Amino acid sequence: MSKSTRREFMLQSATTAAGLGLILNGNWITFPSTPLPKPSSPNDRVDLGFIGFGIRGNILLEAAKETGQANLVEVCDCYLGHLERAKERTDGKIATNFAQYKKLLDRNDIDAVVIATPDHWHLPIVLDALSAGKDVYIEKPMTHTIEDGPKIIEAARRTNRIVQVGSQWVSCDQHKKAREIVASGKLGKVTKVTASYNRNSCTGSWNYPIPLDLQEGVNFNWTEWIGPAPKVPYNPERVFRYRKYWDYSGGISTDLFVHLITSIHFILGAQMPKSVVASGGILFRNDGREVPDTLDALFDYGTFCVNMASTFNSASTAGQGIQLLGTDGSLSILLGGAMTELAEYKAEGYGYSIDSWPKAMQDAFMNQGNHRQESQGTGMRPEPQNIAFDDKPDATVLHLANFFDSIRKRQSGYETAEVGHHAAAAGHMVNLSYRTGKRITWDSVSSTAREG
Ligand SMILES: NC(=O)c1ccc[n+]([C@@H]2O[C@H](COP(=O)([O-])OP(=O)(O)OC[C@H]3O[C@@H](n4cnc5c(N)ncnc54)[C@H](O)[C@@H]3O)[C@@H](O)[C@H]2O)c1
Repeated sequence: MSKSTRREFMLQSATTAAGLGLILNGNWITFPSTPLPKPSSPNDRVDLGFIGFGIRGNILLEAAKETGQANLVEVCDCYLGHLERAKERTDGKIATNFAQYKKLLDRNDIDAVVIATPDHWHLPIVLDALSAGKDVYIEKPMTHTIEDGPKIIEAARRTNRIVQVGSQWVSCDQHKKAREIVASGKLGKVTKVTASYNRNSCTGSWNYPIPLDLQEGVNFNWTEWIGPAPKVPYNPERVFRYRKYWDYSGGISTDLFVHLITSIHFILGAQMPKSVVASGGILFRNDGREVPDTLDALFDYGTFCVNMASTFNSASTAGQGIQLLGTDGSLSILLGGAMTELAEYKAEGYGYSIDSWPKAMQDAFMNQGNHRQESQGTGMRPEPQNIAFDDKPDATVLHLANFFDSIRKRQSGYETAEVGHHAAAAGHMVNLSYRTGKRITWDSVSSTAREG
């Protein structure tokens, strides 16, 4: 696909409209599913480069293939083993670049880049990519500090490029259905949200295996990997388990909470919490990590409150889930899993609360208005209802397809730099509170956070 002209072309017609269903009050309501566009011809595809090709980069490349909307041009990484894997995944076709991402950005035959490096590299690479005229898919969290956010927003506006942030769940049908249910008013007023992300394994707590052949200066470039972070001696633990260290990651809040926050913002139409209070600690995994293995955060959004929690020391309760608690019903959403709705059961406690009154007065009260009926409750206790939705294509495939669509139409999708800034900033507020022991408030005018 050549620049500008072909970018303007209209998306080819949507494909199948497989039925989706939603059970409301026992009725089956159908929705059109979110289809993938038909594969484009090679000339009409987005010419794509990848910067950072570890765990997530590999998933994104496979997802990009599945969209049928991209030509996979070049991949850049600091470890040769990852580049070898990129060749394997593309029948040897993709060009490889060892630790020189600026050379990839210099190529005129690349329209857009997918950036999946550790967080400390997000700001510089996004700014360089925008300056080079590329559209950008940047993995979550968009930023490593709150101050990074406005810089990316300004650069995206100035260069008139598309920025899409990679919290993929907002593109899946489950989340669209959840948003519709909230907007319909069926849950009443949602005043409380609980959310959690629990794990109990080595890999789940970020002790990922280190490649067997790793040799700094031979097949791995530590100087490039560490880039803008404070200089420390080479340590492969920091490379492959970087989420455990503040210099490269924000730990639980920016790696996991940021997904939950993005989803909550999308489903409830929220932008930023007014304040955050957090606590936690390294309570079990004393393996040299700096970030907590257990973290609780309370967010005040003004019209609703969020109680978000994560532990790496027990997985027997909910995995990655959000519960929206409304005055008339609740919705339970497992990211990548099921969604259930439960109507609220309401009954007034007139039995116990007036039992201290003289009997005649109790009878008189119960005979007043609807008191007897109210004390008997709203009939049968409701059963949870499964909400059906299409879980294919995968959220990451849909999110990338949405990015390619935005590039062609020159119209941003939902997860813009502003949205990514807010989600990441709410995560950074959690860490500021955890590390200072103070309540952190958000100033929406200056887009900054402060204590108090
Ligand atoms: N959306 C999701 O569900 C999801 C899931 C996992 C990770 N992520 C995000 O993706 C990003 C990467 O995470 P990961 O798990 O893939 O980490 P990873 O360590 O497996 O991969 C990161 C890769 O970036 C490379 N890299 C570092 N500096 C580079 C540079 N200057 N130039 C080129 N390559 C460089 C590293 O060599 C490494 O291969 C993080 O921001 C993470 O939060 C998102």
